Amino acid sequence: MIKKEQIYEGKGKKLFATDDEWTLIAEFKDDLTAFNAQKKAQEKGKGALNAAISAKLFALIKQNGVETHLIKRLDETNHLIKKTRIIPIEVVARNIATGSLSKRLGIKEGTELDFTLVEFYYKNDDLGDPIINDEHVVLMKLASEDELKTLKTLARKINDILRPFFRSVNLNLVDFKVEFGRDQNGQILLADEISPDSCRFWDLTSGEKLDKDRFRQDLGGVKLAYEEVLKRIEGALK
Ligand SMILES: Nc1ncnc2c1ncn2[C@@H]1O[C@H](COP(=O)(O)OP(=O)(O)OP(=O)(O)O)[C@@H](O)[C@H]1O
Ligand SMILES: [Mg+2]
Repeated sequence: MIKKEQIYEGKGKKLFATDDEWTLIAEFKDDLTAFNAQKKAQEKGKGALNAAISAKLFALIKQNGVETHLIKRLDETNHLIKKTRIIPIEVVARNIATGSLSKRLGIKEGTELDFTLVEFYYKNDDLGDPIINDEHVVLMKLASEDELKTLKTLARKINDILRPFFRSVNLNLVDFKVEFGRDQNGQILLADEISPDSCRFWDLTSGEKLDKDRFRQDLGGVKLAYEEVLKRIEGALK
């Protein structure tokens, strides 16, 4: 596959065209951003860590019956992926209250939720990715009623795959964000990435945070934390 022109540069990845119309290359960057890119930094090696972590998790998710955009990891930082039309919704699944959920609703940080809460955020940087409900999704034609059901079902299924997996490596999967896209046949695929940039992981014993909150909250040791997450995943999947 030939890496052709760059078609998009986001905060965490660059997308490149290939010689096939429905295949892209996603290159993971070392950039770290938070709070809608108001806070920025670089962490050498972060792109490769996320590319490795995301590839392992997508493979695990696929083995368990959820279709994904990942064709293969090409090298340290590049994934060969199926091109999709991204559904402009960030689908968030939460097991434990923290972050914006605690801030907005006053639910105490660290509270275990009675069930996995699925939330939708409208992917629109100019509007600050506002939270939306099912009716906004349909009203704004971001997804059909059927697709909306599929997004919720898939988010829960991914959680049901990942939560026990992470528990087995002594990590609490607190919450995560996923994106879905429609492939050339209109089938919904898990797209984008799943990494410590898009999940919260707390060590089950110490409570230590092993994700992007280390950057958001200036806790230091960002790269060490991402390395630890990869090490545990690799240890369990070997
Ligand atoms: N399979 C795919 N097909 C097409 N686009 C994809 C696919 N997977 C991910 N994307 C898109 O590629 C971009 C990846 O870049 P990145 O994650 O850096 O973006 P971002 O800075 O988070 O910004 P935004 O998600 O708001 O565009 C995102 O826009 C994402 O939605
Ligand atoms: Mg992104």
